[in-house]
Amino acid sequence: MIQIQGLHKRFGPTVAVRGIDLEVAQGECFGLIGPNGAGKTTTLKTLATLVKPDSGKVTINGVAVERDPRKVRRIVGYMPDIFQSYGDLKVVHYLDYYAGLVGLRRQERVRQVEEVLELTDLQPKREALVGGLSRGVKQRLCLAKTLLHDPLVLLLDEPASGLDPRARIEIRVLLQVLKRDMGKTIVISSHILEDLEEICERVAVYEAGKVVATGAVADLKEKARGAHRYVIEPRGDVAAAAERLASCAQIESVHRDQHRLTLVPTPEVVDEAPILRALLEADVRVRSLREESPDLHDVFLELTRGEVS
Ligand SMILES: Nc1ncnc2c1ncn2[C@@H]1O[C@H](COP(=O)(O)OP(=O)(O)O)[C@@H](O)[C@H]1O
Ligand SMILES: [Mg+2]
Repeated sequence: MIQIQGLHKRFGPTVAVRGIDLEVAQGECFGLIGPNGAGKTTTLKTLATLVKPDSGKVTINGVAVERDPRKVRRIVGYMPDIFQSYGDLKVVHYLDYYAGLVGLRRQERVRQVEEVLELTDLQPKREALVGGLSRGVKQRLCLAKTLLHDPLVLLLDEPASGLDPRARIEIRVLLQVLKRDMGKTIVISSHILEDLEEICERVAVYEAGKVVATGAVADLKEKARGAHRYVIEPRGDVAAAAERLASCAQIESVHRDQHRLTLVPTPEVVDEAPILRALLEADVRVRSLREESPDLHDVFLELTRGEVS
């Protein structure tokens, strides 16, 4: 559905993206992860035809973004990271206004507004003023607006940012409905990794204008095995235990935090058996042994290590 090849974009002296290649399949939910300034918004805006690439080829559903931006705008729905609105408008009028902007005729407009109100669970708020809505409800309204012209592709820039846990879950559930039941293709950016982990089949990890890794979340975790750790509480002399463990072949490094030691195994270690052997060899007896498997955050840190912009 989406193809990006060699995308470059600079703003004056700032290089925002430097050679991005991405492909997103139809019906896929694809995540963009990365720190601020990594180039996620620039990528999404390029797909939304709001930023003109310096070089590179971008097509959506076979349409070249640069050649036919009007056609692309009918295919995509873009939800920006900042909500701009007219605070003294009622929710239903706000949506009706935007339905007009995207070119829907009167009858269709009414039908679509009702449909997106229903879909985003905003019926109870239809008469409320936009300016008085909570951030979570505003985000849902923004998503509702994005859905008015029934786009095939949704481009969502940090939709869950700044939301409380409950509102975040509401957005996540809504995105799942859009993907599963309505077959939308979704590209979503976030630095809230847990949000992407549940909903995205694949993610691209951004760092300083580049994609440093792409793949299924589980595969990325596998790749970042280095983030795998074992935490032990040795009995007796902790410093001596640390020293003896550090010289074991299975263990790459040992970090001490008071009474606890964190053991970073060598890449060959995939379960705790070699660690138990190392403890025996080093004659270290423990109160507890716990495996810390990497979450997406560790994966992210591991993959972007030393590439800070
Ligand atoms: N319109 C703009 N003018 C100048 N610099 C910009 C503009 N848009 C983005 N940038 C710069 O490009 C880089 C990438 O930004 P952005 O794509 O917004 O990253 P992200 O969304 O990952 O935080 C940043 O250094 C940012 O300051
Ligand atoms: Mg951004």
